[in-house]
Amino acid sequence: MSGETLVTATAHGKINIHLGVGPKREDGYHELATVFQSISASDTLSLVRGEGTVSEGSPVVGMEVSQSVPGEVPTDSSNLAWRAVDAVVEHYRGEHGSITLPELTISLFKGIPVAGGMAGGSADAAAALVATDHWLAGEYGLEPLGKRGLHDLAAGLGADVPFVLMGGTALGRGRGDELIPMMSRGTYHWAVITSNEGLSTPSVFAKLDELREQRDDLEPHMWTERVSEALSSGNYSLLTGCLRNDLQPAALSLRPELRTVLQVGFSQAGNSGIVSGSGPTCVFLCRDEEWARMIAAAVPAEVPGTSGMVVSGPAGGAAVVD
Ligand code: C5P
Repeated sequence: MSGETLVTATAHGKINIHLGVGPKREDGYHELATVFQSISASDTLSLVRGEGTVSEGSPVVGMEVSQSVPGEVPTDSSNLAWRAVDAVVEHYRGEHGSITLPELTISLFKGIPVAGGMAGGSADAAAALVATDHWLAGEYGLEPLGKRGLHDLAAGLGADVPFVLMGGTALGRGRGDELIPMMSRGTYHWAVITSNEGLSTPSVFAKLDELREQRDDLEPHMWTERVSEALSSGNYSLLTGCLRNDLQPAALSLRPELRTVLQVGFSQAGNSGIVSGSGPTCVFLCRDEEWARMIAAAVPAEVPGTSGMVVSGPAGGAAVVD
């Protein structure tokens, strides 16, 4: 890509240490009680100046994606990052009237597993929000959106976008977008096992609803006090005992081979792993980085179609890179 890079931002993926899923609401979303931790895996997004100018509608004319992780990423206006740029531009035009902008190409580097339940698409949206806000405010001398304004646009784009915008460790209620920062001591090391084939988040939630109609042992786990205590103690083995994901039975039902991933991981790591978010990625909380490396190598060696990586958390929120 030849144009001038106008601004670059990064955002991190997340792990749900606890994911309690309540009943389905009238808006189609499920009530959540979740504890998010942001992780070191990140995506980087740049806005690159194109040749023409645009005075109405989307300034984005294309996307270019490079990746260190497998998976298909849409490069049209259905991509959440594209929609995030448009949301910020619309906001500025609503506040300040017509603004003529250069055509933009979004350049995206993906280090977060694609369709893996680690908020990769949401992280791209969060990076696009902060990048576009920073660039527009600086370039045109306008008032930036600020934390509240960015949060509101983030919540409009998806339930996980506000958390990856904020980063750190937080309790998420409502759709997962009502956030309360949580105290967390120390650094946690995770072995992350991704699958070559992704899973669709809506289908995993729908599967849980279906299973709950057939079984009465899948009640929601909406209490997070033990997780909160473990995180503030900084004791990794206490946190290991708190890992929970109400979506796990649904993800396992849709992808039975994930049982093998968990079993092989458990045989190496003890009972310290869960499906991450809506899956299919599985994560194992490890005593240290070296141990995480061992598990990240051992599981893919035994389970075809999987890959391993090592991450740590908590990490930061979405931020502009100078
Ligand atoms: O908000 P987002 O587009 O990321 O959510 C994707 C889908 O995941 C929703 O359309 C819904 O099917 C499901 N979901 C849910 N309850 C939540 C979050 C997501 O049912 N709290």
